[in-house]
Amino acid sequence: MLEALRETAKPPLTTNRSPALPPSFASASSLAPSSNSTLTTTDSSASADAGTSGDAASMTSSVREHVFEGGLRYHAYRAGKYAFPNDESEQIRDDLKHANSLLLSGGKYFFSPVEDALEAGGEVLDLGTGTGIWAVELGDKYPKTKITGIDLSPIQPTLVPENVHFFVDDFEEEWIDPEDKYDLIHLRNTLHSVKDPQALLERAIRHLKPGGYFEASDICFIPRSDDGTLTPSTPYALRDFISYIAAGVRALGSDVYAVLALPDAMRGAGFADVRRATLKLPLGPWPRDPRLRCCGLLTRTVMMEGLRGVSARPLAALGWTPLQIEMFLVDVRKALMDESVHVYFELHVVYGKKPER
Ligand SMILES: C[S@@+](CC[C@H](N)C(=O)[O-])C[C@H]1O[C@@H](n2cnc3c(N)ncnc32)[C@H](O)[C@@H]1O
Repeated sequence: MLEALRETAKPPLTTNRSPALPPSFASASSLAPSSNSTLTTTDSSASADAGTSGDAASMTSSVREHVFEGGLRYHAYRAGKYAFPNDESEQIRDDLKHANSLLLSGGKYFFSPVEDALEAGGEVLDLGTGTGIWAVELGDKYPKTKITGIDLSPIQPTLVPENVHFFVDDFEEEWIDPEDKYDLIHLRNTLHSVKDPQALLERAIRHLKPGGYFEASDICFIPRSDDGTLTPSTPYALRDFISYIAAGVRALGSDVYAVLALPDAMRGAGFADVRRATLKLPLGPWPRDPRLRCCGLLTRTVMMEGLRGVSARPLAALGWTPLQIEMFLVDVRKALMDESVHVYFELHVVYGKKPER
C-alpha cells in the first residue's frame, strides 16, 4: 500500500487515476452470488487506505468496487467497458498466459529494441496491465527503469519493486502525462478490447520519446493446422465458438482480430520501422517438441478454464441465455480435448518506433 500512497501525490495519467487496491480484495470473488443478478460491492477500507478525503475518497472508493453478474465478477470503474471478468480464475488465466508467452518466445518480455534504454533507466507504460505480472517482472529485470501499469480493475499486488507503480484508469481516456515521456508503451492480450485503436495509437506516439517504441501483442484466434488434421470443412465446435465470441465482442464495440490490421494502422499513425513477429501457439499436447507440448497444454488449460467467463457478456450481447451458453459449451469442451486435430493459433507481436526528430 505504501507504493500506492506515495503515488497519490503524483500527477495522474488521466484526471481520474486512482491507486490500485490491496491484493486481499482480489479474493472477494467468494462474495459472488450464484444467481444472474447484478450486484456492486465496495472495499470498505478504500478511503482509509488512500489517505484521502471528500470527493477524492469517494472516487478512490468507487474504483475499488466490483460488479457481479451471473456469478462472475467484473470491474466497476467505467463499468461495462471491458467484456471479461476480473475474478481470481481470470487472474490465474492471465498469469498462465504470461508464462506461456515467455515459454513460446524463449523468455522475451518485449521484441522492441529498447534493451539498452531500459538498462540505462527509462520509462515504460503497460496498458491494461491486468495482474501486473509483466510489469513486476520487468521492474525486477530493469531496476533503473520506472514501470507504470494501468488497468480498469484494481487487481494488482501492492508488494512490488520500488520502480513499479499501478493505477486504476481507462487508457482510452486522454492522458495528461507529459508528451515524449516513454521508452516503451506495451499492450498485451488487450488490443481485442480497444474500442478505438486509431485514437490509442495517436495518443501513444505523442507520449513516446522520439525513438521510443509501441508494442502490442495478441493471439489471433483462428484455428489452424499444418498437417491437414483440421481443414475448413472439418466440423469443429471451437471454431464456431470463436466466431460467436468475435461477433459478440464486435457487438460490444471492438474487434478480436484488430492485431491483424495493426501494422498498417501503426504506419498510418506515423510509426516507423513497424515489424511483426508471428509465433505458432499450439493448442493441446500434440507437438513432439517438449517445450511446444507444454505451451499446448497451457493454452488448452487457459481456454478451458475461461470458457464461461469469456462467453458470458459477448454471447449475452448476441441474445443468448445462460442455459443456451452452457449447452453450447459442452461441445466446445469436447473440441478442446480432441487431440486428433493438431491446432495452433498465431501469436502476433507488432512493434514500431516513434521517428527521431
Ligand atoms: C486479458 S487482460 C491482459 C492483462 C495483461 N496485459 C497481461 O498480458 O497479463 C486485459 C486487461 O486489459 C484491461 N483493460 C481493457 N481495456 C482497458 C482500458 N480501456 N483501460 C484500462 N485497462 C483496460 C482489462 O481490465 C484487463 O485486465
